[in-house]
Formats: sequence, structure tokens, C-alpha cells
Amino acid sequence: MINNDRNKTVKSTLSDLKADVKIGKVGNGYFSSEKNASIFFDYGLSDTVNKLPDNVRFADFGGGEGFLAYMIKKLLEQRGKKVIATVVDANYKYLEEAKTYALNTLSDDIASCSLQDQDFIIMRSVNHYNSLEEQYKILKNCHRSLKSNAFIISQILSGTEQDCKLMSALLNHPLLGRAQTPNQFHVTSKNAFTSMLQETGFTKIQIAGYAPSVNWGPHILWERYHKAEMDLAISNNDIHQAKEINAQKQLFLKDCVELITKHIKKYTKETHFFQDNNANFLIDLLFPIFRCARN
Ligand SMILES: C[S@@+](CC[C@H](N)C(=O)[O-])C[C@H]1O[C@@H](n2cnc3c(N)ncnc32)[C@H](O)[C@@H]1O
Repeated sequence: MINNDRNKTVKSTLSDLKADVKIGKVGNGYFSSEKNASIFFDYGLSDTVNKLPDNVRFADFGGGEGFLAYMIKKLLEQRGKKVIATVVDANYKYLEEAKTYALNTLSDDIASCSLQDQDFIIMRSVNHYNSLEEQYKILKNCHRSLKSNAFIISQILSGTEQDCKLMSALLNHPLLGRAQTPNQFHVTSKNAFTSMLQETGFTKIQIAGYAPSVNWGPHILWERYHKAEMDLAISNNDIHQAKEINAQKQLFLKDCVELITKHIKKYTKETHFFQDNNANFLIDLLFPIFRCARN
């Protein structure tokens, strides 16, 4: 086991920790779904298994609770490989879960952790937790951590150029209370991610496929980041605190509705934002699975 002494604070992961988010439950269990993990494997890895060595070493950067790494390890073992899988994440609570799958864990910033000689690196829905500048650092660190003929597979949360801008604005919204600094979170478009991969030195860049979509929107974000604190206020019978949280929620949602309504009006044809039957604004996320080679 790799030790976990380097329990670094990474700004972008603090809000999940504070709100006690269980990532396996987010998006109706998107990140703990066997089907979604198998799709990731089918698009990203199935056609390259034969080219991998018998003893495979891979890392899951921002691997959270480790379910995806566990599934990928299992699917490779079923195909006769011996596998050492390491989940790197800055959320120590998620890593506690990852340890239950008997995976190596490393509590660290994926922009600076010092793994090496990996046959491949996987990432799923990690990019947008980081600013654009950090995303470059992460890709550079992936490049450094890989063997010379190795590759990365990264499923990114994305959308049209304009939808990405709006999603970033919602994630960084001061009333949501997730971001500590402006532009801390950044949703990257497919074109921007492709350029970033090229600039970092990756080649053979392709979108191997699209992972299942999931709905995402302001009220979902609010619940994710404020349910725990609201539950606590209610269980403490702290009516004042509960009212304050609710007032902030109403302001946040009102502002989001204004932003999204304007956006839909302006980009009617190309946007994936919509209003559902309960009058909630949502977006159908685009989840391209990128694959590219170190050289
Ligand atoms: C949406 S979760 C996805 C978890 C996992 N990849 C999966 O598919 O189940 C994003 C994860 O990336 C981690 N993460 C994002 N940026 C990070 C960074 N700079 N360093 C370490 N972990 C990071 C978060 O802590 C979180 O666990």
C-alpha cells in the first residue's frame, strides 16, 4: 500500500468534504454504476487490452471512492492481467471508501503527486473541479507519470462552448458557496480540452465515445452542498439558521433562473439547458471520453 501521510489540502475538493458529499450517490448513483464503469472500459480500454503488459499499473486521478478503478481492475483481471491500481484523490473521506476495494490509495493533489511508470491513467468527471491553469498542471503531471508508450482516458463533464461558460458560472456562483476564489471551477469544452492535450504534448487525441448523460442543474447543486447543513439546523431545532439557509437558497435559485432563461433565449438552438415539468432548469450533460497517447 502507498502511504497516505501527504494529506494535502486541495481547494477544489474542500466543498465536497465540508458538505459530506457521498460521491457514489451523486447523480442517482452515476459514479457507483457498474453499467457506466463498463461503458467507460468498453470505449476507453477494451480494444487496447492486448497491447498492455501482463502486469499492468494504472492510476485513477481524482478517483474518489474508487468504484471505477475497482471495476477497471476487475475487468482487466478477467482478461488475464495482473493489476496494481492506485486511486489518487485529495478527499480523504472518499479514499476511506476506496480502501475497502483493496486498491492502493494516495491522498494528494493530482496536479503534483509523484507517481511514475503508469501504463495508463484514467479520470472521470475530475477536470471541472479545477481552474483552467490547474487543469494544465494536471495534464502535465499525467504526462510525467506515464511510461513512454502509455495513454490517458479522461471522461470530462462538458457541453457546447456557451453551455460550458454558463455551467462554470453556476459552479462558481458566490451564493452557492462552493468556490473560494473566482473561476476556481472550470467546465471545459471539447475543443478547449483537445487544445490543452495537444499543448501538453499528447498525441493521437480522439473522442472514444460518449458516456451516458445525466441531468445537472442549480437545485441539484444546492442540495449537494447544503443538505447536510440544513439537516443539522433542523435536527438542532435551529430555526434561525434554517431560515437563513433557505433565504440564501431562494436568492441563488432566482439568480440562476435569470441567467439560464437569458441563456436559453440567446442560444435556443444549440443549448442543452431546458426546463422540466416541475419548472426546474436542468442541462443534459455531455460526457465525452477522450483517449490520447503520451507520445
Ligand atoms: C465528481 S468526482 C468523480 C470521482 C471518480 N472519478 C468517479 O468517477 O467516481 C471528482 C473527484 O475528483 C477529485 N479531484 C478533483 N480535483 C482534484 C485535485 N486537484 N486533486 C485531487 N483530487 C481532485 C475530487 O476530490 C473528487 O473525488
